[in-house]
Amino acid sequence: MTALLGGLPAQEPDKIIRLMSMFAADKRPDKIDLGVGVYRTARGTTPVLAAVKAAERALLEEQQPKGYVALSGDPAFHAAMAELVLGNVVPPDQIAALATPGGTGAVRQGFEMAAHANPDLTLWLSAPTWPNHLAMAQAMSLPMRTYRYYDPSTGDIDPTAMLADLNTAKAGDVVLLHGCCHNPTGADMPIEVWDHVAELCNLRGVLPMVDLAYQGFGLGVDADVAGLRRLAGAVPETMVAVSGSKNFGLYRDRVGILLAVCADAAAQTKVAGTMDWLNRLNYAFPPDHGARVVTMILTDPDLRRLWETELSDMRGRIAEMRVAIADELARLTDADRFERLRHQSGMFSLLGATPDQVDRLRSDHGVYMVGDSRINLAGLTEAVIAPAAQAIARVMGPR
Ligand code: LMR
Repeated sequence: MTALLGGLPAQEPDKIIRLMSMFAADKRPDKIDLGVGVYRTARGTTPVLAAVKAAERALLEEQQPKGYVALSGDPAFHAAMAELVLGNVVPPDQIAALATPGGTGAVRQGFEMAAHANPDLTLWLSAPTWPNHLAMAQAMSLPMRTYRYYDPSTGDIDPTAMLADLNTAKAGDVVLLHGCCHNPTGADMPIEVWDHVAELCNLRGVLPMVDLAYQGFGLGVDADVAGLRRLAGAVPETMVAVSGSKNFGLYRDRVGILLAVCADAAAQTKVAGTMDWLNRLNYAFPPDHGARVVTMILTDPDLRRLWETELSDMRGRIAEMRVAIADELARLTDADRFERLRHQSGMFSLLGATPDQVDRLRSDHGVYMVGDSRINLAGLTEAVIAPAAQAIARVMGPR
C-alpha cells in the first residue's frame, strides 16, 4: 500500500515557532531571547498574575459542574469582553460573540466567517504583519493583497500610502487592522487614521476586521482601543479578534473571543448562529477555564483593580526597556537610527537589521530575534541591555 500520510509534503515551520526551538536548543548560558512575543518580568520570567491566581483559587472552590456550556462559550464572558473591548459604543443586542481557543482561534474563525459571507473576498493585510495571518489565509486559499503601512525610513506608519492602497479594495473585501501595538512594527495608527479607515470602509463597502492581541500593553486599557471604538461606532459591521494571552498572561490556557458588531439585532441573530456553527464544525465547544478566570477578574471590582495594576506594571516595564535600549544604542553608536524604539508601542519593534545581520546576531552573539529583525522588548532585562546593545551596535553599526 502506498504511504498516504508518509507522502505529506514537508511544511515550512512558522518562523517565530522555529526560533523558539532554536533558542531552546542553544547551550550558551548568556543567550538572549528577543524572539517570541511573551511578556517577561525584570527577572526574565513569565509570571502568573496575582489576579489570575486569586480567581483560579476561587474557581477551584466554587466550580461545581464541568459540563458543556454553549457552543459559543459563556454569555458572561461575552459580556465582560465586549465591555472591555468596545466599552459602550455598540448596543449589546448588536454584538455577536464567540469564545475561541486563543486570539489565533478568533482570527481563524473570523476569516472563516468572512469567507462564508463572501466567497469572492480579498483579504487585505498590512505590510508587514504577523506571519501567521498570511499563513492562515494561504492555508484557506483566501485571495490576499497587502497594503502599505510601515515606513522604515521614519519608523512610523505611512497613512497616505495605506489609504491609497485600501482605496482600491472592492466591496465585500476584508481589511485586517491591528488594534494596537502593531506586530511586528510597534507603529500604531493615530486616531485620525482610524477615522479615515472607517470612512473608506463605508464608502467602498469594505469590512474591517481588527486583531486585538495586546490591549493594555501600549498606552492603557482604554487608550489602546480608542481607535477601534471610533471605528466600531462609525461603520455598520466590524469583526474583532481578541486575545487574552498577553494581557491576562494566560498564554497556554487559550483565551480568545471573536466579536462581531452587526448592523441590527436581526443580523446579530444570524451572525451568532453562524458562529455557533463554526465552533461546532471546528472543535465543538471552546475551552472554558481561562475564559472563566477572565470573566471573574473583569466582573469583580477588587480583582479588576489588581489586574489593571499588574497590567500597568507590565506596560511600564516595557516602556522602561524601550528607553534603556534606545539610550544604550544611542551611546554606543552616536547615531539616532534607534530612536524609534523609544516611542513605538507595545512589545515589538523592528530594528532594521538585514537578514544576514539577524543571523550574525544569533550565531555570533546569541541574540535571538525574528528574521525581519523584530525584537520583543519584554525580553530585555537590566542585565541584558548592555550585552544586547553591544551586539546590535557591533553588527549593525551607526548607519
Ligand atoms: C508573536 O508574535 O510572537 C506571538 O503572537 C506568539 C505567536 O504565536 O506568534
